[in-house]
Amino acid sequence: MKPEGSTSVAGILAAYDKAADTLAEQLEELSTAAILQPVAGFLPKDPARVLDVGAGSGRDAAWFAGQRHQVWAAEPVDSLRHAARDLHESAAITWLDDGLPNLRQSTALGMTFDLVLLNAVWHHVPPALREASIASLAGLTGPGGRLIMSLREGPSDPARPAFPAAVDKTIAQAEAQQLRLLRRSWVEAVQPENRRSGVIFTWLVFQRE
Ligand SMILES: C[S@@+](CC[C@H](N)C(=O)[O-])C[C@H]1O[C@@H](n2cnc3c(N)ncnc32)[C@H](O)[C@@H]1O
Repeated sequence: MKPEGSTSVAGILAAYDKAADTLAEQLEELSTAAILQPVAGFLPKDPARVLDVGAGSGRDAAWFAGQRHQVWAAEPVDSLRHAARDLHESAAITWLDDGLPNLRQSTALGMTFDLVLLNAVWHHVPPALREASIASLAGLTGPGGRLIMSLREGPSDPARPAFPAAVDKTIAQAEAQQLRLLRRSWVEAVQPENRRSGVIFTWLVFQRE
């Protein structure tokens, strides 16, 4: 069946832009602590540099900032990024107009991060762009730092099509970039509507060699 929405990165971002107000509200209703619970033991304890890729409403970025971390929040959709900045004004968060596969703005900072988070974003990255995306994410993860990703599987809004999670392939692509798998687990979605429709998330935790 042909998806209703465009399956190009630009098409998916345009669909996010169109729904930004409603989506930001929905994303803000979720609890970062509950979402990150499966990987809580892998998050930095001391103040650290965190890059949140596909930051959406800024919910997770603000949560990390509240834990004394310095956060860079990369979100390619202007309307979402502006809403996020207004909702979570903080001197501890730097907002970046940036996205996969290249993460140009983040890379141009010339620094690496202790934690790179990709929460509920990977399903929007077309398979042909994933190898390059993992290379960008690995390049931004400092030695000994962690890349934590949640990979969504299950029905998606036709306006914002999802590609298969391809968990095993993603792990292989990461391992080819000196990212060692520390944890693989899966959970039901936290969002009630997604949970009812059978959406699950696989959490992957990698450490940069
Ligand atoms: C389901 S939302 C998740 C937002 C946030 N991470 C959260 O967990 O609440 C997906 C996010 O991925 C972003 N996104 C989609 N394609 C992207 C890409 N190629 N690079 C970076 N972000 C992307 C969207 O703009 C949106 O903010």
